[in-house]
Amino acid sequence: MRLENKIALITGAGSVGPGWGNGKATAVAFAREGASIFAADLVPEAATITQDIIASEGGVCETHTCDVTVTAEVEGMIEACVAHFGRIDILVNNVGGSVPGGPVELSEEAWRGQLDFNLTSAFLACKYALPHMERQGSGAIVNISSIAGLRHIGNDHVGYAAAKAGLVQFGKALAVKYAPLGIRCNSISPGLMHTPLVEVRLAGQYGAGDAAKLIEKRNKQVPMGRMGEGWDVAYAALYLASDEAKYVTAADIVVDGGLIAATHGGQ
Ligand SMILES: NC(=O)c1ccc[n+]([C@@H]2O[C@H](COP(=O)([O-])OP(=O)(O)OC[C@H]3O[C@@H](n4cnc5c(N)ncnc54)[C@H](O)[C@@H]3O)[C@@H](O)[C@H]2O)c1
Repeated sequence: MRLENKIALITGAGSVGPGWGNGKATAVAFAREGASIFAADLVPEAATITQDIIASEGGVCETHTCDVTVTAEVEGMIEACVAHFGRIDILVNNVGGSVPGGPVELSEEAWRGQLDFNLTSAFLACKYALPHMERQGSGAIVNISSIAGLRHIGNDHVGYAAAKAGLVQFGKALAVKYAPLGIRCNSISPGLMHTPLVEVRLAGQYGAGDAAKLIEKRNKQVPMGRMGEGWDVAYAALYLASDEAKYVTAADIVVDGGLIAATHGGQ
């Protein structure tokens, strides 16, 4: 198995509705490859659903309730993982999400909220996980960004775009600093994914409440003719977290069905 004896902490390891979010699919995919999972989530019931799936397949999963935008809670999350499993081999910073608006529409508080949710959350988890990885002499960090951090994709959400772009470059700078210490850091930029988020939040945010119409629009935007799914992100994360990627650091893998390579740029 590709992650045998590895301890993997995944933030946002539940999902906001029925089905497979990126973090939930990643947790289950990692467990299937032998990792013991530390599933952190703001909503305990969401993490428990993931835990139950992993347990039903014979895997190991511990849950932890944490708001990754709160410094003390992030420190507590990392310490709880190390206290329970003794180490932390893989950290997946998966929590994030968008709030629409340009500089005029977004309040300063909402702007700062976007940076906290998508960028500072990962900074904090790295801040507290890295000393353990340094002590171990190994570690793999995977940050879940978005193609919105690479390209304008048809939605005005400047806070999200800036935070996700920052997350990619944060990871690259970190990767270079920690490369001599055996710690790798990479990111994934998913495109339009059909996770439960689409029905639960995006339909209201960008689709005037009409989920079916938004799904049709998102499918049409992609050269492959359909959105991706949580598993597409999970398998990219699995590669980056595994020793198969032992020479890969400071990289960003785009998982978008060809969207940002298309000249229409998703418009
Ligand atoms: N769904 C997409 O189309 C898409 C596209 C590109 C990038 N992404 C990125 O993928 C990541 C995951 O997206 P998703 O759709 O799977 O997520 P999701 O909205 O389903 O959320 C996953 C989990 O995160 C938890 N969570 C929310 N706020 C939290 C907090 N403050 N602290 C801890 N846990 C919290 C939720 O309870 C939920 O269980 C995000 O970073 C998102 O920006 C998603």
